[in-house]
Amino acid sequence: RYCYVNGRFLPHRDGAVHIEDRGYQFADGVYEVVTIANGTMVDEDPHLDRLERSLKELRMRMPMARGAMKLKVRELVRRNGLKDGLVYMQVTRGVAPRNHAFPSDKVPPAIVMTTKKMDFAKMKKFTDGVTVVSAPDIRWGRCDIKTVSLLPNCLAKQAATEAGAYEAWLVDEKGNVTEGSSSNAWIITKDGVLVTKPATNEILNGITRQTILDLAKQDGVPFEEREFTLEEAYEAKEAFVSSATSFVTPVVKIDDHVIGNGHPGSLCEKLLGTYQDYAA
Ligand code: PDD
Repeated sequence: RYCYVNGRFLPHRDGAVHIEDRGYQFADGVYEVVTIANGTMVDEDPHLDRLERSLKELRMRMPMARGAMKLKVRELVRRNGLKDGLVYMQVTRGVAPRNHAFPSDKVPPAIVMTTKKMDFAKMKKFTDGVTVVSAPDIRWGRCDIKTVSLLPNCLAKQAATEAGAYEAWLVDEKGNVTEGSSSNAWIITKDGVLVTKPATNEILNGITRQTILDLAKQDGVPFEEREFTLEEAYEAKEAFVSSATSFVTPVVKIDDHVIGNGHPGSLCEKLLGTYQDYAA
């Protein structure tokens, strides 16, 4: 298995960055996770658009032109013989002696890429659904940037894991669900309306989220981008999470509240099917 580190393809075990990389010291960097289906990137340009935006918001440059980036990803996928799975790409502000302020413009950003094989066809989470637990959203004011600074997300996911759950749904001070620790959160009302929080600075605007909204629009599935509370989620007809690795994963329990009949609902199943056809 190969990885990509600052211009070179290396055996995965030899992939390393410097101890003074700002990603390591300050979590001063951004990342993307892109699904690979049948050897190709799903939503390639939207992911690279978001990477560019995250970098721009943190006043960092793209480590290479977009065309070159696509070629590197494709080359890594090819070298690893990856059919289904994901590509992880991370860009940090580079290597410089530790100082909170940015280093000089001459310091080049550092880029690494890895892949992971995943068997999307055989995942039990799609057929059985998953459980989620709530946790307070203690993150910062720029959750729209896909930064590697993920400690609050890690703490929430660990709490979920310890509770035997797949994901933690983060709840803000008003009692609204913002998103999952590594996914977007959705509910389906008794009237069959898809509901997810509007893409503000309080959440990451998932590429999967945007694709699901597009597909819903095409198929005439009613949807609303609005706030919803944890209480409303407890009473929802169906619920699901979305991300590059979760697609549309049905949620069958939130804290102690069983959703629907405790099995994936029909609209979730339909949306998952539509998304899988789109990705394939
Ligand atoms: N996480 N919200 C958060 C906080 C996320 O970390 C992610 C993705 C999403 C969904 O975004 P997308 O649909 O573009 O994957 C929402 C990735 C998968 C991760 O950190 O591994």
